[in-house]
Amino acid sequence: MAGRSARRWVAAVPQQVRHLGAIFALLVAGLVGARQVLVPKTFGERGHYRAAAVDSIVAQEIGYAGHAACETCHPDIADKKGQSYHRGVACEVCHGPQAAHVLAPMDHKPPAPRERAYCPLCHGYNPSRPTGFPQIDPVLHNPVRPCISCHDPHDPTPPHPPESCAACHGEIARTKAISYHAELPCTQCHAVDRRHSVSPRQQRPSKPTTREFCGRCHAQDADSPPEIPRVDLASHGPGYVCWQCHYPHHPEAR
Ligand code: HEC
Ligand code: HEC
Ligand code: HEC
Ligand code: HEC
Ligand code: HEC
Ligand code: HEC
Ligand code: HEC
Ligand code: HEC
Repeated sequence: MAGRSARRWVAAVPQQVRHLGAIFALLVAGLVGARQVLVPKTFGERGHYRAAAVDSIVAQEIGYAGHAACETCHPDIADKKGQSYHRGVACEVCHGPQAAHVLAPMDHKPPAPRERAYCPLCHGYNPSRPTGFPQIDPVLHNPVRPCISCHDPHDPTPPHPPESCAACHGEIARTKAISYHAELPCTQCHAVDRRHSVSPRQQRPSKPTTREFCGRCHAQDADSPPEIPRVDLASHGPGYVCWQCHYPHHPEAR
């Protein structure tokens, strides 16, 4: 009686729904089977993860020691770096994972990134970096020499650019120092922007361009101390600028 009504109910269901039902039943059976085969044994024991994973992670070799470990044996470097711009950059960022070195310092020597290509990984110009992050153009910024020849990696404060002209123009300064122009400061004749000592070729000082410039002190009617020798600008070497005959850093006439 019950079997007959069930068969009649099944026959009343449309054929396509019966086919779909069969596919659905197969899918469910497949998923249940796959769960048995594919889900790892200890999954879910302690939470939504494989409990045995903890053991296999614990078994992995430790690579990093953490910066606190470095501080115990290298306190001077740690102190220096701790006060510097690089205080937020951990030792092992630059020196690589060093757990082995901590266990046996003499057997495992950490490498140090001395080559010029390394620092621009963080400091090379890249518009996506945060505004104000110190960036340089590695092609233009003091080319060729390694960064660490000017910047201490553990305290990378930029060095003070040289203040005296003689630091870079030694030959001119030494020549002028024994000349009649010894008392004239370089800036008497050259207008120099402060940035010239940082980017010399981009920020060029001015140079005198006219005879009248020298005439300010040497013309007959110049308002300058009387011991300065005078020439008549109109007749003295006309048609040439003065420094075609007188080297301005060591002018000689006798
Ligand atoms: C147990 C003490 C100890 C700890 C901890 C330690 N170091 Fe050292 N480290 C030394 C000693 C000793 C030397 C000197 C080896 C030598 O001069 O031959 C050294 C040398 C170095 C050198 C120079 C290698 C060279 O070629 O001159 C670097 C770089 C260095 N350590 C980085 C680190 C870093 C990074 C850490 C932290 C992960 C660290 N150290 C932790 C003892 C230690
Ligand atoms: C920004 C990258 C950077 C960071 C961060 C850094 N170092 Fe260095 N370290 C270098 C470079 C580059 C050299 C090589 C310097 C040289 O040859 O003049 C070096 C050299 C060393 C040396 C060997 C020479 C020396 O000065 O005695 C030791 C030891 C050292 N580092 C330890 C450390 C420790 C400890 C820390 C963390 C407190 C650390 N470093 C953080 C880049 C770094
Ligand atoms: C992992 C990234 C990283 C690496 C690698 C790195 N630095 Fe830095 N550097 C920083 C950070 C972060 C600062 C601090 C920026 C700030 O204060 O806003 C900094 C600051 C500086 C400054 C200070 C700039 C200023 O504002 O006056 C100089 C110079 C510098 N680094 C040079 C170097 C040199 C040279 C190297 C290679 C030995 C190097 N850096 C490697 C991240 C890095
Ligand atoms: C010949 C010496 C020299 C060399 C080599 C050098 N620098 Fe500099 N660096 C300076 C001086 C001087 C300044 C400060 C003047 C300035 O702001 O340009 C400076 C400034 C910086 C600044 C700060 C810029 C800012 O806007 O605050 C960063 C970052 C820097 N250098 C990174 C580097 C990196 C990275 C290298 C290697 C690719 C390098 N420097 C090579 C001399 C040098
Ligand atoms: C950091 C080094 C440095 C310092 C400091 C420096 N200069 Fe220069 N200066 C240079 C370089 C490099 C050049 C370019 C030389 C070239 O291109 O042949 C230059 C060029 C010049 C020029 C020629 C410009 C041109 O267009 O021919 C004058 C003038 C000059 N410097 C004057 C000065 C004076 C004055 C001072 C001091 C207030 C000074 N410099 C400080 C490095 C420096
Ligand atoms: C009396 C004016 C005067 C003074 C002082 C002077 N200069 Fe000059 N300097 C000149 C003139 C004029 C030129 C241009 C020469 C030319 O265009 O050929 C020049 C050119 C230069 C140049 C370009 C390269 C060269 O030799 O022609 C440099 C660099 C320079 N001066 C540096 C200095 C420095 C550094 C000092 C200080 C130690 C100094 N000058 C002082 C007048 C002066
Ligand atoms: C700020 C004033 C001043 C300017 C500008 C100046 N000079 Fe002079 N010059 C002097 C002084 C001061 C002496 C030395 C006078 C003395 O004590 O004999 C001198 C001496 C000389 C002498 C004489 C050397 C000798 O053998 O007696 C010559 C030549 C000369 N300057 C050329 C120039 C030229 C060229 C320029 C332009 C590039 C120039 N000066 C710009 C102040 C100046
Ligand atoms: C054609 C080359 C030439 C030119 C251009 C020239 N001079 Fe002379 N200058 C000389 C010679 C040569 C002497 C030495 C002989 C003399 O006194 O006539 C001299 C002498 C001087 C003396 C020394 C005068 C004395 O009484 O001791 C001064 C100052 C002087 N020149 C300044 C200048 C000035 C300023 C200019 C540019 C306006 C200039 N010269 C242009 C060639 C030149």
